[in-house]
Order: sequence, then structure tokens, then C-alpha cells
Amino acid sequence: MRAILYTRAVRSIRVLPDLLVSQIAAGAVVERPASVLKELLENSLDAGARAIAVTLDEGGVRRIQVEDDGAGIAREELPLSLARHATSKITSLADLEGVATLGFRGEALASIAAVSRLSISSRKTQAQHGSTLRAEGADIGEVEPAARAQGTTVTVEDLYFNTPARRKFLKSEPTEFGHCDEVFRRVALAHPQVGFSLRHNGRASRHVRSQTLAERATAVLGRELTDASVAIEVGAGGMTLTGLAGTPQAAQARADSQYLFVNGRYVRDRVIAHAVREAYAELLHVERQPAYLLFLALDPRTVDVNVHPAKIEVRFRDSRAVHQFVRHALERVLSPSAAHAPIAYATVSHGAGVQAAFSLAQPAQAYNAFMAAAAAPLPAAEQSPPLGFALGQLHGIYILAQNEAGLVLVDMHAAHERILMERLKSGIDAGEVARQRLLVPAVLSADALDVAAAEENQEALDQLGLEIVVSGPNELTVRTAPALLASGDIAALARSVLHELREFGAAQVLSGRQNELLATMACHAAVRAHRVLSATEMNALLREMEETERSGSCNHGRPTWYQLTMADLDKLFLRGR
Ligand SMILES: Nc1ncnc2c1ncn2[C@@H]1O[C@H](COP(=O)(O)OP(=O)(O)OP(=O)(O)O)[C@@H](O)[C@H]1O
Ligand SMILES: [Mg+2]
Repeated sequence: MRAILYTRAVRSIRVLPDLLVSQIAAGAVVERPASVLKELLENSLDAGARAIAVTLDEGGVRRIQVEDDGAGIAREELPLSLARHATSKITSLADLEGVATLGFRGEALASIAAVSRLSISSRKTQAQHGSTLRAEGADIGEVEPAARAQGTTVTVEDLYFNTPARRKFLKSEPTEFGHCDEVFRRVALAHPQVGFSLRHNGRASRHVRSQTLAERATAVLGRELTDASVAIEVGAGGMTLTGLAGTPQAAQARADSQYLFVNGRYVRDRVIAHAVREAYAELLHVERQPAYLLFLALDPRTVDVNVHPAKIEVRFRDSRAVHQFVRHALERVLSPSAAHAPIAYATVSHGAGVQAAFSLAQPAQAYNAFMAAAAAPLPAAEQSPPLGFALGQLHGIYILAQNEAGLVLVDMHAAHERILMERLKSGIDAGEVARQRLLVPAVLSADALDVAAAEENQEALDQLGLEIVVSGPNELTVRTAPALLASGDIAALARSVLHELREFGAAQVLSGRQNELLATMACHAAVRAHRVLSATEMNALLREMEETERSGSCNHGRPTWYQLTMADLDKLFLRGR
């Protein structure tokens, strides 16, 4: 075998040529076509554009063009726009520390020009005509006159034509287009007052006119989030948080409906992400990801945007204050008592017992008190089941029932989930989970790690009542499932189980994390909100709850039911008896 020799010729130190410097800088800023698109869109927004048209060819690899109606660039400044460290946006450290524009490094166009064929044409409002300039790697042409309307058009062609190593890292056209589309969506979400259009390979792909944030959110993200979210607009301590916070119904298995903007800039931020997670902790199972569209605005001097070359991260001067503000603002809008209670109820509830009965905080206490009351011997003739009999279903989510004490409200999904989980647990503890061969096997697409997890954990899966076989290089088939859960979403269930096995290993999953696992499995099979239940089904659920241990709270710690006694109701109606 031949050893690989790393030769390090001893050379003298020298200053790198300009083009190479820009190409190195491009390495950090221009990761793929989508990063070019982001920089060009940000420049158009900084120029005050009201309408922006994007044209892409071949996922942006062949061509990315952004045309705007912004302020434009003066003829004599056109060459400067492509020069490194040349910007119109800041002039001093003080400016940098309070930067309010999206760009400020004076580097984007120079970096892009170093790795593509770029042309920029522009016209300022008062200018007689427009001008244009072409650049190709190190060769920058002459400024020439051009006929055009006010604004700027930047065209970037053949990305990485002169850096073949980089070109090799580009993915397929659909993937690159997908990244461009995501950038486009983020930018469009943050600027609803600006109209945007996107064409790909000659076909119109997206078009949004100037509109309100709610309209823009629906246009870009679809109805899922707008329909299942609460609007948020909270200000305190010089910060404001606006946008939409998804309700638990909008939550997803993956974190891909999470949009966070700080001063109009899309960012990934751990401080805020953590605050959001905490605000949702009571409402969502750890496996579910909340959906949200949040805009945090704060004094630019309290946030450093000069942290990451692509400006995707920020640093807050007082991250504790930001964390607290975001968390509290979200908790307030997400609390069901604040968001959904009718006005009359909200007024009565101050300090009164009703609020406590509804709040999510002390389910156990309420439950125990009620169980004690229910356990007290009743005259034989009046004996009715502790949770009473169903009266009806409320908005497809709650079962209303009448018992001795008054009104019982049951969260049907949460209650069913708890029942399934407890049964599953008894089955596993007894070493025998009743299983059912699926009439129609559930097929799921799987990546290599899922396939490996299924193959390596046959025994653990068997203990859980699952038989999963590899049916293709990227495909798994579930043939048998626990009988209790067989009518649920078996593919989703299998995916969650494999995910757990991958993350934590079989031993951990079957012991320390067993409850979490069973809870997830039960969740996929429990009756969904909005399923219409018959009176018989509702009563059956109530009876099962009475027989199930710990049925007072769901598998995620939320209460499954509440008692409103006649006394509570009388108090609500200010009715003396
Ligand atoms: N669409 C545009 N409309 C008007 N001026 C523009 C436009 N695009 C670029 N410019 C001008 O060209 C300059 C250089 O742009 P470039 O994107 O390279 O740097 P920047 O935006 O200042 O900083 P950054 O590197 O952080 O993006 C800008 O400062 C701006 O004056
Ligand atoms: Mg810029």
C-alpha cells in the first residue's frame, strides 16, 4: 500500500489575488443557488422595492434573476456595487451596531460575481436612462447605457462555472429549486406589503400581491396554519412579538412549519426556539412540533446580526429578557382559558373557582377531590356511574356528560389515548400483547437508518406487537400490529417506534422510555378530534375511563376530564340556591 504524502512546500507568505479572496468569501456566503437568491432578494428589499420578480432556470443553477422596482443604483456607482467591502448601508461601527437593513457587509454581490456570470442593470428615479454592467469571474466589463424602468435587475448565470469542485456539491434540480422556493417563501412571509412572483423554467410557480400578514400567511403556507392558530400581538419592554401561534391541532411530526424572524430577518435561534418549546410544553407531546410564524421586533442595537456570514444567526444582548418575553407572550395566547373563554366567563372567573377548574395546572387535585366524592356511598336507587351518561359532543372535541355532581367534560382524544396506553402496558407487562395481522399491510417509505433499525430490532418490535419487514431498499411493510391499535395510523405509529429505536436503542425504549413510547403509539390510534361518536360509543368511553388506572390525565400529563359541579355552575350564573 502506498502512503499518501501530504507535501507542504515551504513557500513565502503573500497576499492573495482579489478573485481568490472573493471566491473564498463566496464559500461561506454562496452555498447554493438558494443563497444567491436570498442575497438578491435582500438587496431588493433594502432598496425599498414594492414588487419583486424572480426567474429561475434549472433550479437556479443555470440562471437566477431578480428584478425590482426599488431605488436603483447610480451609473457611476455600478462598478462599486460589485466591489468587495463596498456598501451604501453602513459607514461606521455605530451604524454596524444598530444596523436596520438586511445587508451591511458589502460582500454579497462581489462574492456571487466571483463564482458566476453576473450582470446588473439599474436605473435611479431621476436618471435619464439606465446602465448595465457585466462581470465574469475576475473580468468586470464597462458600464454601458441600457433602456429600462426604475429599479434594478441582477442576473446570475452558470453558478460555479469557474469553481468545478464546488459545482459538484450541487444537488438535483428539484432539490435546488426546493431550497430556492423555501428562501422565497421565507422572504415573502416577512414582507407581506411587497408583491412577489416566482417563475421556474418558464412557468409561473408563485405569485403574491401586496397584502396583510394573515393573507400572506395563507397564500404562502396554506390554510393549515391560519385555520389552526391564534394571532399574537404582544409588546413589552421595547419588544414586540407578532404572528401566528399554531394550536396543538396544527402541530406536526417534523419541525418544518416553524418560521421565526427577528427584525424581519429569518433566523435560527436557540434562545427563542427554547422559549417556544417551553411555552408549548404543556400542550404538546414532546414528539410533536408546534407550527408557528413569529416576528420578533426589538431595538437593533440590542441584537448583533454580524455573527454568521449568511446572517442566519443572531446574538441578543439580553437573551434572558428575550427568552422570558417570548415565552410569556406565547403562553398567554396559547392558554385556552384566555384565548377561548367567552367574555362573561372570563369576568366571573377572576379569583373564582371556575377558573381553577378549567386551568390545566391542577388536574390531579380536582380529580382526586371528585373521586373522593364519587366514592362516597350513594343511596342504591340513585347510584349512577361516576362519570355519568353522555349528553352530546361539543365541537367534535369534548364529550359532555351528566353525573350526580353536575356536568362532566371529557377530552375524548386524550381520554381514549390514556385507555389504550394503559391496556397496552398491561399487555406488555404480562408478556403478551394481543396482536392482529393487518388485512391491508401498512407500507411506509424509510431511509437506510429506518431499515437498519427495523432489521436490528425485530425482537423488541415483536414485544411491542409489531411485525415489520423490509419490502424494498427504501420501504418497510408492517404486517402485524397490536390489536388495540390496529385501526389507527399504523404507518405513522411504526415510524415513531423506529424513530425511538434509532434514537435510544431497544433496551432504553423498552424500559426507561417505555411510557413515552406507549404514549406515542396510543396517540396514533386514539380517536381523532372531529370524529362523530354515537351516544353508545361515548358511554362506552366513559365506562372504560372509570375502569382505567390514571385515566384522570392523558399520556402527556394533560387532564382528560373535568367536573363542573352544580355549585360551580350556580356560581358562574351568580345564582343563589
Ligand atoms: N437591488 C438593488 N437595488 C439597489 N441597490 C442595490 C441593489 N443590489 C445591490 N445594491 C447596492 O449594491 C451594494 C452592494 O450590494 P451587496 O449585496 O454586495 O452588499 P450589501 O447589501 O451592502 O451587504 P451584504 O454583503 O451584507 O449583502 C449595496 O450596498 C447597494 O448599495
Ligand atoms: Mg446585500
